[in-house]
Amino acid sequence: MKRYSMCALVICVALSYPFASYAGDALPRIVVLATGGTIAGVGATATTTVGYAAAKIGVEGLVSAVPELSGIARVSGEQVMQVASENMTPGDWLALAKKVNRLLARDDVDGIVITHGTDTLEETAYFLNLTVRNSKSVVITGSMRPSTAISADGPMNLYNAVLLAGSAGAQGKGVLVALNDQISAAREVTKTNTTALDTFKTPGMGFLGYITGGQAHFYRATTKRHTSQSEFDIMKLEALPEVHIVYGYAGANSFMLDAAVGKGAAGMVNAGTGDGSMSDVMKAAYREARQKGVIVVRSSRTGSGFVARNGEAKDDEYDFVVAGNLNPQKARILLMLALTKTKDTKEIQRIFMEY
Ligand code: DGL
Repeated sequence: MKRYSMCALVICVALSYPFASYAGDALPRIVVLATGGTIAGVGATATTTVGYAAAKIGVEGLVSAVPELSGIARVSGEQVMQVASENMTPGDWLALAKKVNRLLARDDVDGIVITHGTDTLEETAYFLNLTVRNSKSVVITGSMRPSTAISADGPMNLYNAVLLAGSAGAQGKGVLVALNDQISAAREVTKTNTTALDTFKTPGMGFLGYITGGQAHFYRATTKRHTSQSEFDIMKLEALPEVHIVYGYAGANSFMLDAAVGKGAAGMVNAGTGDGSMSDVMKAAYREARQKGVIVVRSSRTGSGFVARNGEAKDDEYDFVVAGNLNPQKARILLMLALTKTKDTKEIQRIFMEY
């Protein structure tokens, strides 16, 4: 990977505008949408892998640093935002989903790659998995080392993501996350390590496949609804309902829950201990929230496994919803979208079992 001197960086930032770099006519037409993150990051030295500046290099700089892309796709790029992904918002998700839907509706676009910070990559991926109404490929990638680092992982991650997006196997599989040669489903993938290159895993579910030797190899596909099978249409939505998460732990009290409900949250997700458990104190507070019309979803802080109805709480009696095996941050996203369609808890439970 070319290391960016500051002057090169200035050129890259200045050139981060919609551009096209075409190669052979038969190659897939892939649009790279850049949003920021470490893959666009710059460190003070080649050994800086923490404490660098994320979201500095523009899409032109990312793509031009991987000239091999022209051998596998006709790549065009657009800088849709330039943020560290901890600053992503539901409003950004909506804007990105609308752009992706509009681009994929075009006959001259075969697939999309999104470069993204890794901190909330899984959330954007799942939101798009539920709202992109097209079976063409959407692949999200990022990196754990900034572009200026020795053995930066961004360039190969970008190459593999474009290769995957242009592959037949990627069509119709839902939004895919590709880093470190591994292919994951947007629904289950999660960041599991603060700094490791293989941070993205799908606990208990495994990868969908691998990208190796210049080929994408798939071994399974998700059975849950996504993309073209989704019932969620966000094209006319301007905002999403407020849904927040409260973490469960020994001695938790209802301060945060009460505050969120007091601020008008439409839904609350319990990041519960074990099988989505709530302490008696929290259970009473969640029941009170439910009686005020707030939808309550039980998820788990454990990171894997299935939260079943009427296990650690009387969900039928309390009128709670269970998240199945969605982690709290994914359950929040699905509840936000469910609430754009219904407040009926039986309907919402159906949605949680189908997506
Ligand atoms: N600030 C973090 C983000 O943009 C850096 C992590 C990364 O992109 O790998 O998500």
